[in-house]
Amino acid sequence: MVRTGDVLVVGGGVIGCAIAYELAKAGLFVTLVERGTPGCEASSAGAGMLAPQSENAALGPMLTLGLASKALYPDLALELRERTGLDVEYETRGDLHCFLDEGDEAVGRAAFAWQREAGFKAELLGRADALALEPDLSPEVRGCLFLPEDHWVNNPRLVTALAHAAALEGVTFARGEVGTILRSKDRVTGVSVGGETLRAALVILAAGAWSGQLAATAGLRLPVGPARGQIVCLEGIPRRHHHLLHVRGHYVVPRVNGEILLGASMEWVGFTKQVTAKVARDILDDVLRLVPSLGQLPIKATWAGFRPWAPDERPIIGPWPALEGLVLATGHFRNGILLAPVTARLVRELLVDGKPSLDLTPFLPDRFVTEER
Ligand code: GLY
Repeated sequence: MVRTGDVLVVGGGVIGCAIAYELAKAGLFVTLVERGTPGCEASSAGAGMLAPQSENAALGPMLTLGLASKALYPDLALELRERTGLDVEYETRGDLHCFLDEGDEAVGRAAFAWQREAGFKAELLGRADALALEPDLSPEVRGCLFLPEDHWVNNPRLVTALAHAAALEGVTFARGEVGTILRSKDRVTGVSVGGETLRAALVILAAGAWSGQLAATAGLRLPVGPARGQIVCLEGIPRRHHHLLHVRGHYVVPRVNGEILLGASMEWVGFTKQVTAKVARDILDDVLRLVPSLGQLPIKATWAGFRPWAPDERPIIGPWPALEGLVLATGHFRNGILLAPVTARLVRELLVDGKPSLDLTPFLPDRFVTEER
């Protein structure tokens, strides 16, 4: 249990902002340290998918965690709107996994089978029904798997709203780059920021892809690093389609303001923030084959971001064992936006209530503890 008064959240992405907001609402005194604008890295680089059924290939703890988090979104969206006036554009029309050939269809049918068996909503649609839902699809489309309960939000707006709401709850935002996590024997005591020391009873490490580097400054071996994703953004007013489309591992996400996000690569290239011609071509090849009319739209922007990746591709949530004062909330990989609300709730339950409402065992940092100084 933590006494009210001194929590330091390292990282102002969606995870850090959601945790800061949640803990402040619970009455804790929270400071959040971020070197840039809240949400300026992976949280605004992604496409805002809330898609546990699309992102999981089987039942398991990741799917359970994702579903629990998605269930928190309708209330969170309303709450953020009431508190901040910001609409996070929570969109609920569902995802279409489109088939261009037999191989795509086989993958879709297999996903349909296990999801229906598990009791999830899923429909297999033929060409005519797919075209009825989205008339701009190519007539080449053979059909699709419709997952009506996978959703999306405007992720940059979400982080902004969480940061505003956190500030309204009394969270202090400190601008600066954390250099070192400070440690005295078996206790973390704070962080150094630009030569200053910020002391805290509890440090929450929510620094996304940079979490491994920061953990190393306290002598901890945390294998979290960057998995680059590249996005191409089209300017598409008026809106062309109303579902989130998937094709061969790529996706097409329509936003209310007319932007259409096309993503995304998965690359292990360190912290090299580039958009490459090959990846842009690969994304555009698949997407334009599925929706040829998008080829007429201007490219508004391209960007890359760094998903926080851990070797087992599961988030890391909970206290670092045998070390007082350090809690991790990182490694959310492809699902940071989806998992932010449940991560915040679990951290609050851990710290304030003493008992998380979901089994944290698969997500505890213990699985990576090999060696400490
Ligand atoms: N959630 C989709 C991605 O990370 O590309």
